[in-house]
Amino acid sequence: MTDSSFHEVIGQAKDHVWMSHAQFRDRDDPTTLGVAMRGEGCYVIDHEGRRYLDATGGSHCCLIGHGRREMAEAVYHQMLDLEFSGSGLVPFTNVPTAKLSKKLAELTPGDLSRVFYTLSGSEAIEAALKMVRQYHAQGGSPKKYKVLYRNYSHHGYTWGAMSVSGDPAIRSPIFEPAAPMGVVVPEGNPYRCLYCVETCNLGCARAIEATIEYEDPASIAAILVEPVPKGAVTAPREYWDMVRELCAKHDILLIADEVVTAFGRTGTWFGGDHWDLEPDLMVLGKTLGSGYQPIGAVVATNQVFERFLGGPERTLIQSHTLSSHPVVSRAALTNLEIIERENLVQRSADMAPYFRSQLETLRERSVVGEVRAIGMLAEVELVKGPGSKEPLGGKEAGRAMTRFMVDNGLYMRCSGEKLSIHPSLTITEEEIREMVDIFDRTLSFAEREILAI
Ligand SMILES: Cc1ncc(COP(=O)(O)O)c(C=O)c1O
Repeated sequence: MTDSSFHEVIGQAKDHVWMSHAQFRDRDDPTTLGVAMRGEGCYVIDHEGRRYLDATGGSHCCLIGHGRREMAEAVYHQMLDLEFSGSGLVPFTNVPTAKLSKKLAELTPGDLSRVFYTLSGSEAIEAALKMVRQYHAQGGSPKKYKVLYRNYSHHGYTWGAMSVSGDPAIRSPIFEPAAPMGVVVPEGNPYRCLYCVETCNLGCARAIEATIEYEDPASIAAILVEPVPKGAVTAPREYWDMVRELCAKHDILLIADEVVTAFGRTGTWFGGDHWDLEPDLMVLGKTLGSGYQPIGAVVATNQVFERFLGGPERTLIQSHTLSSHPVVSRAALTNLEIIERENLVQRSADMAPYFRSQLETLRERSVVGEVRAIGMLAEVELVKGPGSKEPLGGKEAGRAMTRFMVDNGLYMRCSGEKLSIHPSLTITEEEIREMVDIFDRTLSFAEREILAI
């Protein structure tokens, strides 16, 4: 790309793209925004041919690496065959969607076997919220409308998903009151536990039980969980056993949000496999299409689906014009074929010890409070110094560290409080070393320039 076309694109973007998470008012400073031109394996390549190692795995989406010709060809051929088929109004389905649904029924645990499609994770959360409401209403319990969600959880920015998310980045006083259904309960977070004194006493799980009793079990429709949250926080197995028991006891549906963790991210097919979770509804998104096409889905058990059978008035009241899209389904199917053919779930489990051991070396930096990793999902909590659990810094510090990482060849961001690391499952040992080396230099930069240690 020539210099003048680079400046033209940056100008167009800065003047007209409403980007998320950023303002980009400084139109004349070309260093603040790059132009991504190509993807290749674990690298993103910019307009000057500069390569950035992608530590985010395409914002959690891309399990199979960037720039796969096979994906492009699958999508191309599908578009030539059939680029659209509706989602049910006219009674047609299409081949890729039918095949993908069978595949998902085979891969997902327990009795999960019926797939509803959307185009993003948030929309799939919205659909799941409506499913649980309608499920209980049609089972004679219309007063079951509340959804338990966990603090710090992230389920998306749409109104319903926001209303059942605990992540402070999503919740803002501007949007309160949110939809009146969400009730917050604790996640199990050993590093920042509010309940344990020295050893785990499962206080977090007992707090869920207490909340159910307080709110009235007859009003609780579902509990929405990320079996392994994005921050690689893992609750003890007993926490999950209690959640399961509470669901069974009070007729509460278990919704597992596997938008980030499905298809190998944590070294198993699904995050919930670590605790043998068999949810009533599983929400899929990012990893289902590896980011090559926009797709989300809710997979329901037969038992849930049967509640929607009978007269036409029992049909699920939810639809998207572009759901069950043949091109999108074809991309997801090809993505799953690649994951199976290249044994990427096993690769994730096999590479995990090396990934973790390399990240553990960062503990030598005074600003590292905790290193957590499960499979190829990791988080490094950044603090003000040894023994402190106070976050290293806020958005400003995050921006400075992001800039440093990008300038040093990493496709990565930092909030100021943590590094969330989740490269494609195809990453090599050499690439992991390159990535950790840049993290190390970034933390040294933070010690020097942000904390002035
Ligand atoms: C766990 C989880 N669920 C749901 C979502 C929402 O997905 P999307 O951004 O595709 O709407 C996200 C997005 O980051 C997520 O991390």
